[in-house]
Amino acid sequence: MAQIRIVRHPVVQHKLTELRDQRTGPKRFRELLREITPFLLYEATQDLEVEEVPVSTPMGEARGQRLRGTIGLVPILRAGLGMVESALQMFPEAQVWHLGIYRDERTLQPIAYYNRLPPQPTVTWCFILDPMLATGGSAVAAADILKRWGVPHIVFVGLIAAPEGLERFARAHPEIPVYVAAVDSHLNPHGFIVPGLGDAGDRQFGTGIQP
Ligand code: PRP
Repeated sequence: MAQIRIVRHPVVQHKLTELRDQRTGPKRFRELLREITPFLLYEATQDLEVEEVPVSTPMGEARGQRLRGTIGLVPILRAGLGMVESALQMFPEAQVWHLGIYRDERTLQPIAYYNRLPPQPTVTWCFILDPMLATGGSAVAAADILKRWGVPHIVFVGLIAAPEGLERFARAHPEIPVYVAAVDSHLNPHGFIVPGLGDAGDRQFGTGIQP
């Protein structure tokens, strides 16, 4: 199995339940995704390295700690976009490297269509942001790209994963931790997580509406 860490914080589970609800419209869905992301990142960043630094307070000298290394946020288009803004509030200095990957609806294979990474890595940590890990194809493809880029530390941060996708991810990238709020039952024949929450991109952006 992948290094899967389920964030069971009651506030996360409360917000996840509202996200799942089919009556939750795009505006509230976007708000909830923004609200839940810091809780996920709080857990997912616990292994960040720090260095000791002296700090002068108004009352004297203290020993402090400062984050070491450079953080990259890697939202997978489209659904990962909804996690970036609040992640940036947490890490205002972070670099944001978007990756465009969609899943072919017929083959369910990931198709990478946007990547502007420079030749050499510019960050030491990358946090892949994508609410859904279904077949795992997109997450594996994103981690492949970041490994080829040469990033030393990669972490996946999402909302819901399927067991099938976690297995696939663990086979491809056993050392990369996966932080999610829930692992659901299974994938349906169309590769959707059951019960899941539907298509996270469509639900955020109001697309996918049947005429
Ligand atoms: C969804 C989701 C993930 C991917 C998960 O994106 O946001 O990126 O599918 O599926 P997988 O684990 O089977 O690869 P989608 O392909 O719908 O792209 P979109 O957000 O651009 O609509």
